Amino acid sequence: MGQLEGGHAVAFSSGMAAIAAVLDLVPTGGRIVAPEDCYFGLGELLADARQQGRWAVDRVDLTDTASVRAAVTGADLLWLETPSNPLLDIADLPALCAAGRHAGALVGVDNTFATPLLQQPLTGHRTAAAQMTGFGAVLAFEVADAPTADRLCDALAVIVHATSLGGVETTIERRSKLAGQHHLPPGLLRLSVGCEHINDLWNDLDSALQRAGRITSAAALAETGLPTSGPPDRRR
Ligand SMILES: Cc1ncc(COP(=O)(O)O)c(C=O)c1O
Repeated sequence: MGQLEGGHAVAFSSGMAAIAAVLDLVPTGGRIVAPEDCYFGLGELLADARQQGRWAVDRVDLTDTASVRAAVTGADLLWLETPSNPLLDIADLPALCAAGRHAGALVGVDNTFATPLLQQPLTGHRTAAAQMTGFGAVLAFEVADAPTADRLCDALAVIVHATSLGGVETTIERRSKLAGQHHLPPGLLRLSVGCEHINDLWNDLDSALQRAGRITSAAALAETGLPTSGPPDRRR
C-alpha cells in the first residue's frame, strides 16, 4: 500500500479509525479546516468535537481554492476529501496541499472514492482530470425530487438500496434522507458501482428510471383530469 500511495502506509480496521487517528493529532483548542461536503461520519465527529469545545472547526467549499487558502491560515489541520462524498466535489489537491503546508498545517486527504489506483495525494497531480487516471466507481446524479428518487430506488431489482459503498454489489442511496444530510439536493442519488455485468446494471437503471418517470407523468396527468394509463407495473 505504501508503494501504491507513494509513501508510508499504516493500516486501520476502518476508514473512520484512520480519520480519527489523524484528527487526534490536533491538540485541544486547535483548529481544523474541513470540507463542507464530506463523509457524514466525519461531519458528525467534527460537530461533536466542536460542541464539546475540543476543536474549532471551519467547514469550507473545497472547490473554492481561494477561500480554503484564506481559512487555513493559523489552522492546525487541513482535511481534504476529493472526490467528496456524496457531491463528488473535486478539489485542486496540489494547490490546497501547498497552501496547507505553507500555513504550517498538517494536511490529510481522504482518498476513499479515488483509491490509490486513480489518485495518489502524496505524489500530487493537477486538478481532477490530471490528478486522477480514471473517475472511480462512485457517481452522483439528481432526479426531479425526493419522491421520484425514492420510487427509482424501490423500482431497482439488481442494484441494492443501501448506504454502503465500495463493495462488489452495486448500491444506491438517496443521501438527503439521512440525518445531517438535509442540505443536499432532495433528488440526489449516490451510486457505487460493483462487479455485476454492465448490461444488467444499465437495464436495471433504465427500467427503474422509466418506471419512476412514468409514475410522475401519471400523477401529473391525474391532476389535469386527463386519462392516465393506470398504475405502474411494480413487478421486480
Ligand atoms: C469518503 C469516506 N471516508 C470515510 C469513510 C468511513 O469508512 P469506514 O466505514 O470504513 O469507517 C467512508 C465510508 O463510506 C467514506 O465514504
